[in-house]
Amino acid sequence: MRIDVLSLFPEFVSQVASHGVVGRAQERGLLSIHGWNPRDYAEGNYRRVDDRPFGGGPGMVMMIEPLRTALAAVRAVDPRPTRVIYMSPQGAPLTQAKARELAGLERLVLLCGRYEGVDERFLQAEVDEELSIGDYVLSGGELAAAVVIDATARLLPGALNDAESAAQDSFEGEGGLLDCPHYTRPLEHPFGAVPPVLLSGNHAEIAKWRRKQSLGRTWLRRPELIDRDQLSKADRALLEA
Ligand code: ADE
Repeated sequence: MRIDVLSLFPEFVSQVASHGVVGRAQERGLLSIHGWNPRDYAEGNYRRVDDRPFGGGPGMVMMIEPLRTALAAVRAVDPRPTRVIYMSPQGAPLTQAKARELAGLERLVLLCGRYEGVDERFLQAEVDEELSIGDYVLSGGELAAAVVIDATARLLPGALNDAESAAQDSFEGEGGLLDCPHYTRPLEHPFGAVPPVLLSGNHAEIAKWRRKQSLGRTWLRRPELIDRDQLSKADRALLEA
């Protein structure tokens, strides 16, 4: 997969992308991430990328032309068609299902805004979708793009060492529930005991306990994620037990 990031601060994203699972995915050749600065495609001595908004008001708006030229250059480096996503608080919420969908693409362009945003005509003409990482406003789209890259990269086949670990994440299993609690050594600690079932060696009982924990946590913390009618009989029994 190839991800191109259009940003006035492309180093911001490449920093994040060079560490941990995303860095390893790049080393393994599963993913390549490339930063592009629209300022490099701006005209004039000042290489201006923004201007005041028509109609007045605070802040600046990113201009069409530097973005259009930069995006044309991005498209031209690779013949494969690409999806173009604008990171914005007005976008659709990023979900695990969306990350899965993106992980299936060969190419992706992430556009990061700064200031008040991007000229709407550019968005209409060139952007396929807008994505938000939550109902709060960041000072730019770079952190949001880094979130999309991380959530997507770890789902690329071969990115995670333990093939099982993505399947067991929150939102990934049956019903899209939250993850269960985890424990490791030491067994004895002043902070408390390890649930005995985890030491029983009974894999069926352990799986049942974990499922029940996931159901219970989701029920308490994020009840809107549970669709009772969609739950299996076994899950309903666990919730009611
Ligand atoms: N840019 C600014 N705020 C954002 C958000 N919440 N999600 C995505 N991009 C953004």
